[in-house]
Amino acid sequence: MKLLILNGPNLNLLGEREPEIYGTDTLIDINYSLEDTYPEIEFTFLQSNSEGELINWIHQADSEQNGIIFNPAAYTHTSVALRDAISSVKIPCVEVHLSNLFKRTEPFRQISLTAGVCKGVVSGFGKFSYHLAVEYFLREVEE
Ligand code: DQA
Repeated sequence: MKLLILNGPNLNLLGEREPEIYGTDTLIDINYSLEDTYPEIEFTFLQSNSEGELINWIHQADSEQNGIIFNPAAYTHTSVALRDAISSVKIPCVEVHLSNLFKRTEPFRQISLTAGVCKGVVSGFGKFSYHLAVEYFLREVEE
């Protein structure tokens, strides 16, 4: 099983960025925890602050991966282009968020433009949101 773990803008700052909301794990800590827990999975880890780069990686994943686990970060709430990229590829995408979007106080965070074209959404479990998404692929998606 090959999975792309894709992270959007500002997630390179995890660990120091608003730790009361996003926790103290860095993105590298999260990626190591996935590798440790699921040695049978071949992960590719990518992060970008640029929308176009994320779109290109989604396109590329279609021929190389069995699925995508994607935290689009702030682009969740703004990006029609990322939504279209996800719906343009055949492999399934699961959207993940560290925080529970529905507990956040800013109303715009409760709107996801990308969720409607994803298989499902896991939100609010910190780094375990990524783990729960992997569990879906292990149980439901054929290699
Ligand atoms: C986030 C939630 C988004 O609203 C925010 O812009 C992020 C992180 C999360 O993982 O909780 O950057 O996607």
